Amino acid sequence: MTYNYKVVRQFALMSVVWGVVGMLVGVWIAAQLAWPQLNFDIPWITYSRLRPLHTNAVIFAFGGSALFATSYFVVQRTCQVPLFAPKLAAFSFWGWQLVIVAAAVTLPLGLSTTKEYAELEWPIDVLIALVWIAYAIVFFGTIAKRKTPHIYVANWFFGAYVITIAVLHIVNSAALPVTWTKSYSAYSGVQDAMVQWWYGHNAVGFFLTAGFLGMMYYFIPKQAERPVYSYRLSIVHFWALIFTYMWAGPHHLHYTALPDWAQSVGMVFSLILLAPSWGGMINGIMTLSGAWHKLREDPILKFLVVSLSFYGMSTFEGPMMSIKTVNALSHYTDWTIGHVHSGALGWVGFITIGSVYYLMPRLFGRTQMHSVRLIEAHFWIATIGVVLYIAAMWIAGVTQGLMWRATNPDGTLTYAFVESLKATYPYYYIRVAGGLLYLTGMAVMLYNCLMTMREGRAIDAEIPRAAVAHA
Ligand code: HEM
Ligand code: HEM
Repeated sequence: MTYNYKVVRQFALMSVVWGVVGMLVGVWIAAQLAWPQLNFDIPWITYSRLRPLHTNAVIFAFGGSALFATSYFVVQRTCQVPLFAPKLAAFSFWGWQLVIVAAAVTLPLGLSTTKEYAELEWPIDVLIALVWIAYAIVFFGTIAKRKTPHIYVANWFFGAYVITIAVLHIVNSAALPVTWTKSYSAYSGVQDAMVQWWYGHNAVGFFLTAGFLGMMYYFIPKQAERPVYSYRLSIVHFWALIFTYMWAGPHHLHYTALPDWAQSVGMVFSLILLAPSWGGMINGIMTLSGAWHKLREDPILKFLVVSLSFYGMSTFEGPMMSIKTVNALSHYTDWTIGHVHSGALGWVGFITIGSVYYLMPRLFGRTQMHSVRLIEAHFWIATIGVVLYIAAMWIAGVTQGLMWRATNPDGTLTYAFVESLKATYPYYYIRVAGGLLYLTGMAVMLYNCLMTMREGRAIDAEIPRAAVAHA
């Protein structure tokens, strides 16, 4: 009996391919902000249409494919059984790729619900729901037929992400279709905003965080060859995190028509969220106890561990930004963009890259990647890229916030808006440079993966006869 690695291989490779595509669009829109003429006056490639293409491609195509790949791998290895319903697993792969292609066609055409991170029109939403139900059946079916008595903690995180995304997607996408390409939200006014940001924040919490924590709890102990620092803490981490995230959404709606008490609830839960986030980060980092020396020569471990530093940074920054008085400065500025990308490039990007480097040789019958030196190079190029990106956005954001609120003694504004824009330009150039570096790293990774595939061959590992507690 062997594990079913085919679908893992497919998703792992596509995550790298979509990573390159999504980040290429990211660099392009970053360049458009610096040099607006780069839209060449063609409607399909204006900033407004490429921006949602970027966010959808990096979150759902790059991040999503990596989550499918790693969860399908981890659930099999830790349950010691092949995937349940392999045909449904294959459907989840082809269905998800179809969703991505449909997004890549409809978003540049300007077809959009206008809800951030939920821009896709209703026929694509229906397909997403079907793929997700198939995913849930495969994932939980595999857990149900496990040979191990225990459900390893990584599966708890993956499981919570699978269930929550289904609920969020179905509730937030409820709409009245009027044509094949146009629908109206089932909610209106401030309720619509509330549902949207309950969705939006939990997309961060469950898509961009819980699933990736599942990766952390499997791949860091594996690569470091150490057990999880505190298994008890991982359980507390799980329950505290999933309970708290649910209530934090209103911090996206400070100073809006949302009732003030709801905004305060969002702020308080965001502040509480610091504790489980840091508990989890510390648990991941301390897993290296006794293995710190490995960091010196293992670039995969570097990616995995540095991802946790960025996770810690962005989950400290987020609660601070949720404080209403701080948000009064940060909202609408590039500070938010800096926060997003310290989470996205530093945390989500690095943990994914590390996990895929771990997976690739194992999926293709090799002991290691084609070139370990290229992984090392990737690590440094990407790290410099992230730092340039986020430092530039922090400075730009605080500058903008301060310039917008500055007033003269007679009460008039000190700066016209365009002056703040002029002050931002140098940082936009730096962001383009940082983004280009990060993209270069991804291209190096794609080359390294393709070479590893060429030198190896697709193999599915055997399932050990004696079921052991942990794979
Ligand atoms: C080469 C790498 C990347 C570059 C150059 C880049 C660039 C950009 C730019 C220019 C924007 C628009 C900012 C604005 O409207 O002011 C943006 C938005 C965004 N990007 Fe990226 N990006 C990159 C990678 C990623 C990755 C890997 C992710 C997620 C995993 C990501 C997630 C997002 C999100 C969520 C937004 C929307 C932020 C918001 O609305 O506040 N990006 N990106
Ligand atoms: C304790 C954890 C976190 C808290 C409390 C938090 C809080 C916040 C706050 C207050 C904002 C600004 C809202 C606004 O002014 O509109 C924000 C924006 C954002 N954060 Fe976080 N954050 C956390 C972690 C993360 C992580 C780890 C990521 C990514 C992996 C992330 C991704 C985002 C995105 C994408 C946005 C922009 C949303 C938008 O307006 O489009 N956050 N977050």
